[in-house]
Amino acid sequence: MSTLVGVGMGPGDPDLVTVKAANLLAKADVVFVPVGDSDNSHPPETGRAEQTALFYAEAWRIERVVFALHDREHTARRERAWDDAAAQVAAWFAEHPGGTAAFATIGDPCVYSTFTYLAATVREQVGELTVELIPGITAMQDLAARSGTSLVEGRETLSLFPMTAGPERFREALGRGDAVVAYKFGRMLPETLAALRDTGRMAGAVYGAALGLPDEDIRRAADLDPMGRGPYLSTLIVPPRREGRGHGLR
Ligand SMILES: C[S@@+](CC[C@H](N)C(=O)[O-])C[C@H]1O[C@@H](n2cnc3c(N)ncnc32)[C@H](O)[C@@H]1O
Repeated sequence: MSTLVGVGMGPGDPDLVTVKAANLLAKADVVFVPVGDSDNSHPPETGRAEQTALFYAEAWRIERVVFALHDREHTARRERAWDDAAAQVAAWFAEHPGGTAAFATIGDPCVYSTFTYLAATVREQVGELTVELIPGITAMQDLAARSGTSLVEGRETLSLFPMTAGPERFREALGRGDAVVAYKFGRMLPETLAALRDTGRMAGAVYGAALGLPDEDIRRAADLDPMGRGPYLSTLIVPPRREGRGHGLR
């Protein structure tokens, strides 16, 4: 049976790849990696999964798959890229029936990952196919650990927001006092910081860009330029409102 495995590569530090992922990458017949189809305007994510995959798989087993990684909307160009990518992977299975293909994706393959779209389309094109997933460490987990931030305790709840969905629900969650994490806000950093200020949630909020990469930047959100922009690979953690130890258990 042909097998397609979505493999979480973690946020950037190759030491944050699980043993299970490393073992699969070492033995897969091919390791597909996503690359953006844009020019140099958004270089951070381009090749990110590939950079980490190269620690565990030889370059000759790695094959690039082009995606419209940075289209914010559901564009026709994006649709075409999914179809082309799936056709490339399906063609590989046609040539290697019964083979095992890994698809390396940053963070976790079940969290805002291109793997979800790819697997659904490849499944339609390849008759007998098993799809598996190997979880990865997400950017928010890495940032929480690196900044010493306890994400949730006791009965506290956690909400994850892609800021590309608009800031309104982000503001609502901030207003409730929940733990809130924001993804995909690089260009919207001023709006994101304004929401923190307006809801009184700036204290304790922590920002991490390019986690695990050479240009990593971890700092208090309060220390950011309120009018600046962050790179695409930026994550923000706003811990819950807490008063003293065990607050989340009350
Ligand atoms: C398409 S989502 C991918 C999420 C990924 N699958 C995960 O599990 O973390 C891209 C967003 O993840 C976050 N992200 C991923 N890697 C990151 C890193 N190395 N540093 C900071 N943020 C990162 C950013 O918010 C970025 O906009």
